[in-house]
Amino acid sequence: MPNKSNIRPTIIAGLRSDIPEDLPPYPGTPLPRRVSAQDQATIEGTGTSVRVENVSKTYKMGEELFWALRNVTFEIEKGEFVSILGPSGSGKSTLMHLIGGLDKPTNGEVYIGENNLSKLNGRRLATLRNKQIGFVFQFFNLLPRTNVLDNVMLPLIYSTNTKDRKSKALQIIERVGLKQKVKHKPNELSGGEQQRVAIARALVNDPEIILADEPTGNLDSNTGIQILELLVAFNRLGKTLIIVTHDQNIAKTSTRIIRLQDGQFI
Ligand SMILES: Nc1ncnc2c1ncn2[C@@H]1O[C@H](COP(=O)(O)OP(=O)(O)O)[C@@H](O)[C@H]1O
Ligand SMILES: [Mg+2]
Repeated sequence: MPNKSNIRPTIIAGLRSDIPEDLPPYPGTPLPRRVSAQDQATIEGTGTSVRVENVSKTYKMGEELFWALRNVTFEIEKGEFVSILGPSGSGKSTLMHLIGGLDKPTNGEVYIGENNLSKLNGRRLATLRNKQIGFVFQFFNLLPRTNVLDNVMLPLIYSTNTKDRKSKALQIIERVGLKQKVKHKPNELSGGEQQRVAIARALVNDPEIILADEPTGNLDSNTGIQILELLVAFNRLGKTLIIVTHDQNIAKTSTRIIRLQDGQFI
């Protein structure tokens, strides 16, 4: 249980001033000011599977409706490793955003465990995202002027105290092989190292689900394989892993492949 008296939301404000306009903050950061007993119940009551029921997402393009997703239904069990394959524009990122509660479906429901995401208020949704879901993106989305340690500590804003935050962050940084680089800024790291930082940040709160949207899309193939191996290692530890990829080899190592085309499963 987080100790409410030690929560310092001002730290977020300090870090967020560092974010350029075009770079969205890490999804775990827009947090509620404190974790209430009800929010805590949301977190603890969360099973770990993902359930997507009759989900559609449309965008208005002038007078026309554009269907980014059409009536998609599936379920992912705890501990699965699922690859989502499909051409550019087929709705992969849209689906990931809906699963991660970053966006709402036009129709249908998304459940994380027992929680219907569209029924949660903003604060409980933010809490669930922060505690249960780790996001990894193609372009890393690290805070550029912030060192590795502080980037990784970002989602831990509600941990009991600074010392705990630091030790948790250092532990996961070591796990992703960056112990020697904690004080480095992102531009002093290779692409692969930056993605390791992003993975550490995604995992520092020990979430049940990892959502990785083309995590190797911006890396050379050897580095990409290493990043994949790291993600798969966390899947072996029991985390549910959902990866969007164009790479058939990556997909082959997963336990299940979901193929999307024009917003539909094929
Ligand atoms: N905010 C938006 N407004 C309008 N169209 C969008 C928006 N976001 C995504 N789209 C469209 O939805 C389709 C699916 O996008 P996306 O999920 O990003 O595809 P993928 O990740 O598979 O490349 C694309 O044609 C894209 O242009
Ligand atoms: Mg995409």
